[in-house]
Amino acid sequence: MPAIVLVGAQWGDEGKGKASDLLGDSVSYVVRYQGGNNAGHTVVIGDEHYALHLLPSGVLSPRVTPVIGNGVAVDPGVLIDEIDGLTERGVSCDRLLISANAHLVMPHHRALDKVTERYLGDARIGTTGRGIGPTYGDKVARVGIRVQDLLDPGILRQKLDLVLREKNQVLTKMYNRRGIDADAVADEYLGYAERLQPHVADTALVLNRALDQGEFVLLEGAQATFLDVDHGTYPFVTSSSPTAGGACAGSGIGPTRISKVIGILKAYTSRVGSGPFPTELLDEQGEWLRKAGGEYGVTTGRPRRTGWFDAVLARYATRVNGITDYFLTKLDVLSGLPKVPVCVAYDVNGTRHDEVPMTQTEFHHAVPVCEYLDGWWEDLSQARDFAALPRNAQNYVRAVENMIGAPLTGIGVGPRRDQTLQLRPLL
Ligand code: GDP
Ligand code: IMO
Ligand code: MG
Repeated sequence: MPAIVLVGAQWGDEGKGKASDLLGDSVSYVVRYQGGNNAGHTVVIGDEHYALHLLPSGVLSPRVTPVIGNGVAVDPGVLIDEIDGLTERGVSCDRLLISANAHLVMPHHRALDKVTERYLGDARIGTTGRGIGPTYGDKVARVGIRVQDLLDPGILRQKLDLVLREKNQVLTKMYNRRGIDADAVADEYLGYAERLQPHVADTALVLNRALDQGEFVLLEGAQATFLDVDHGTYPFVTSSSPTAGGACAGSGIGPTRISKVIGILKAYTSRVGSGPFPTELLDEQGEWLRKAGGEYGVTTGRPRRTGWFDAVLARYATRVNGITDYFLTKLDVLSGLPKVPVCVAYDVNGTRHDEVPMTQTEFHHAVPVCEYLDGWWEDLSQARDFAALPRNAQNYVRAVENMIGAPLTGIGVGPRRDQTLQLRPLL
């Protein structure tokens, strides 16, 4: 039985949490494979709203085993707070498994994330300030500290001393900040170790055995295609690989196990932080989309930048992820527009580009070429099947589907589980 990847097709906040939660009832494991608590995934079940940051959405489905894979950057204090918050609300996290190989976000990572952003000034990335970039930087530089190091106090102390010797020089001499005390950090993290130890596992082994036994595994991406460190709008990206290829590296599941890649696509576009965004609306229409779509960050509360749907981005996402199916979210938000613009190509210095240009310089200068589809006024939030949508909304969906390079399996018309139109079986 297969593994399925769920991936954001734009710049994040497409509604991955909702889509993952919907699939949760049909799978045995839901695995986060990258990112950390820079993510904010909203799941609405009945009247209950859950904002998840590190825990996979599967934690809300009692029959699912939620897994934090080796590719995730784990801030243990944040994770424990999230577990405690859910437990208080009656959601058990006892089943949670955490990879022994996942890297830990340490206090020096959070400190460095903040000071380096300040240092960049106008060139800043607009990170979430959660220490994610420096954690992955240390992972690649081979000075990271992993979840398994929490289980060996001697090793933890040794690694901490070594890494802080350099980081404290940087913090104090370059950025004029206070140094970090290794004793205090070791004590704090060994406290976390006590809480987390029962959850630590060889998750790659567990997942591969589950697949051998015919179980479904859902690999849930955080962030999105255009925030991918390789395929996104570098350097305005996150420091991990949200694209489908990252799901293998970040979970320990081989590519031959993956049978489906589901792309989550919002019926318009949003972005948080800096970087190019061709269809961005800087006028009252952008403000209208932000209000209508409730586009404010789950993690930082920042207002999200907003713009029209961009089919060029979607085609690129289809390609680099090998997307087999799309889930289109927030169609309901577009009600009330006389015409709905859709970007079908870019004009870059007088040349038409039907695909994302090769260089960032060109992408920065991309001006959207739009088609204007007829809008609709009706409220879509009560619709439960495609036929119940107004004719123009149906036409919009079909037109978008023809531009993106993969079929649509589902449409979101509201944040709740039941506000979903299924066009074909999800699994
Ligand atoms: P994620 O990071 O991709 O999981 O997305 P976020 O949770 O950050 O942002 C998506 C927001 O849209 C959340 O507030 C969801 O509850 C909400 N949402 C998801 N799907 C739909 C939909 O189809 N319609 C509407 N109106 N809201 C939705
Ligand atoms: P979800 O999973 C939207 C953005 C930040 C910043 C850039 C780098 O909810 O879709 P980082 O803190 O990762 O080093 O910041 O990436 N970013 C997100 N934007 N949704 C997210 O997650 C994001 N996670 C990071 O705003 O521009
Ligand atoms: Mg989000």
